[in-house]
Amino acid sequence: MSFNNTPIELVEKYWDDRPCNIRHSTAAIGTKKYFDEVEERKYFVEPHIPDFAEFNRWKGKKVLEIGCGIGTDTINFARAGATVTAVDLSSKSLALATERSKIYNLFDQITFIKADVESLSKYVEPEPYDLVYSFGVLHHTPNPENAIREIKENFVTSGSTVKLMMYNRYSWKVIWILLTESKGRFWKITELIAKNSEAQTGCPVTYTYTPKSLRKLLGNTFETKNIFVNHIFPYRISEYVQYRYNKMWYFQLLPSVLFRLLERKLGWHLCITSQSR
Ligand SMILES: C[S@@+](CC[C@H](N)C(=O)[O-])C[C@H]1O[C@@H](n2cnc3c(N)ncnc32)[C@H](O)[C@@H]1O
Repeated sequence: MSFNNTPIELVEKYWDDRPCNIRHSTAAIGTKKYFDEVEERKYFVEPHIPDFAEFNRWKGKKVLEIGCGIGTDTINFARAGATVTAVDLSSKSLALATERSKIYNLFDQITFIKADVESLSKYVEPEPYDLVYSFGVLHHTPNPENAIREIKENFVTSGSTVKLMMYNRYSWKVIWILLTESKGRFWKITELIAKNSEAQTGCPVTYTYTPKSLRKLLGNTFETKNIFVNHIFPYRISEYVQYRYNKMWYFQLLPSVLFRLLERKLGWHLCITSQSR
């Protein structure tokens, strides 16, 4: 199966129907309490993000965030003193991210633009950025190679940093999908990964990468500075959706040092930091 011909409208609808992390808080959507809790839960469940993003490093710099969702990382780049251009395909996500920036008095530092990354220069004025950051996004667009071409040709210069998180093919998550969802239909794995990759089932496009295939996607323009995998979701989903954090029995038995080692081998997040030559 190939995702290449998936209509972008389908991708847009999926993320508009349920913006990423929208249920990370039970407080009234759009309030400060809501956004505080969204951030708390996001970095509790995905604690490697602040280290990967290095928010403080971008103080006084220009950051282009692709696929900002409801803006958790966006706000942290701005809070650290960066000037941010944040784009997303989903108007609903952008509306929440914009509200959020106003609540924290960071609106003046962030330009929000509705855009399809595959033709980004049609929406965003081409200019080089110090950092192009995209966490968990480019594997959801039908043709990620178009997105990389846009970044290369229009939004970096020699020395620009590009940080991407893409899903890791050889991961615990994929093993879990094989064990729980495939019923032996291994040939359907690409489709099953997409269906089960997100909180809401039925994601229309989800690619997975190995370190090698991700480097290949980026091509020779970028020099890899750091690449690692991290993140295994250890909680019982039925309790997690009720904001209770009890681990699956097998992860309860695993000493935390071994769990962290496992995350570094079979984590779902393949994070690359590269520099434009
Ligand atoms: C998993 S969410 C990640 C959001 C955010 N980066 C975060 O970590 O919370 C994926 C986001 O990518 C956006 N997206 C998917 N395809 C896109 C495209 N072609 N152009 C721009 N944004 C896209 C979706 O609308 C969605 O908000």
